[in-house]
Amino acid sequence: MKKNIRDKVVVVGGAGFIGSHLVDELVRDGLNVHVVDNLSQGKKSNVHPRAKLHVMDIIDLPSIAPVFKNAKYVFHLAALPRVQYSIEHPSETNAANVDGTLNILIASRKNKVKKVVFSASSSAYGDQKQLPLREDMLPNPKSPYGLQKLMGEQYMKLWSLVYGLPTVSLRYFNVYGERQSSEGAYALVIAKFLAQKKQGVPLTITGTGKQTRDFTHVRDVVRANILAAKSRKTGRGEVINIGGGDNQSVRKVASLIGGKVKHVPPRLEPRDTLADVSKAKKLLGWKPTVKFEDGIKELLDLQ
Ligand SMILES: NC(=O)c1ccc[n+]([C@@H]2O[C@H](COP(=O)([O-])OP(=O)(O)OC[C@H]3O[C@@H](n4cnc5c(N)ncnc54)[C@H](O)[C@@H]3O)[C@@H](O)[C@H]2O)c1
Repeated sequence: MKKNIRDKVVVVGGAGFIGSHLVDELVRDGLNVHVVDNLSQGKKSNVHPRAKLHVMDIIDLPSIAPVFKNAKYVFHLAALPRVQYSIEHPSETNAANVDGTLNILIASRKNKVKKVVFSASSSAYGDQKQLPLREDMLPNPKSPYGLQKLMGEQYMKLWSLVYGLPTVSLRYFNVYGERQSSEGAYALVIAKFLAQKKQGVPLTITGTGKQTRDFTHVRDVVRANILAAKSRKTGRGEVINIGGGDNQSVRKVASLIGGKVKHVPPRLEPRDTLADVSKAKKLLGWKPTVKFEDGIKELLDLQ
C-alpha cells in the first residue's frame, strides 16, 4: 500500500512573529511542520497545534541536529532581532545570530536538506548614499545586529559554495502584522504605536519622525519564503530584498494609527530605507501585494 508521506519542513524560530505565520501557511499547505524555538521571545500559543514544537536552543547542535532528519526545507528565522538590544548585548546576540546560524547550516548539511531559506535583514545596508537599496550595494551595517545578519548571509553563501548545500537569504524590510510583539523597550514602531494607542498614551516618535521605513506585510514575507524554497532560480546563497517597495515616514504611521504624539530623542538608526524589489520579481516571481494603508487598517480593526 502506498503511504501518504507529507514533506517534512523545519521552521527554526517558528514560535515568533514571522515564523508562526509561516508555520500556519505551511500547515495549510499540508506539510509536516516541525518548529525549533527556545521560546525566549516566541510563544507556545503562537505555534499551530498541527505543528510539532521542539523547545530547544539553536546553540545546542547535538540536540537540534536530529530534528532536521529527512527535512526537505529549513526556514531559519530564529534570532535575537533587535538593533538596540544588540548594541547593549553584543556577545549574547552574536551567539544566537551567528553561532546559532552556523549550527543550522551544519545540521542541514548533515541531514542533506534540499534548501535552507535564511531570514536576513535590511539592517545589513546601514546608511547608503542612494535609494532604493539594491542587493549589489556594499553593506554598511551600523549595529552588531546588522553585522550578525550579514554574517549569516555570508555563511549561507559559503555553505552553498564549499559544501554544495542549497541556500538563499531574504533581506526583509520592517515587517509588520498581527502577533508582532509590542512588549518591552525594543518593540518596533507599528506594534509600539498600536500598544500606546490601546493604553491611551501618546505615540512616542523618535526624533523628528521624518525618517522613513519600507514596511512589509507579514503575509508577503511568508509568500516570499515559500517561493524561495521552491524556486529553481535560487540555491547558491543569493541575497534578495523583500520589501514593500514604498516607504512611509514615522509621522505618517502615527497619523494613520491616530492619537496624540510625543517626540523623544533620536536613536542611532538609518534615516531612510526603501527596497528595490526587482531581484525578488526576477528570481522568485514575487512582488508585495498588501498596501500599507490596508495593512494598518487590518491591525486597527483587530484592536
Ligand atoms: N520583524 C522584522 O521587521 C524583521 C526585519 C528583518 C529581518 N527579520 C528577521 O526575521 C526573523 C524573525 O523575526 P521576528 O520579527 O519574527 O522575531 P521574533 O523575535 O518574533 O522571532 C524570533 C524567534 O526566534 C526564537 N529564538 C531566538 N533565539 C533563539 C535560540 N537561541 N534558539 C532557538 N530559538 C531562538 C525566539 O524565541 C523567537 O520565537 C529574525 O531572524 C529577524 O532577524 C525580522
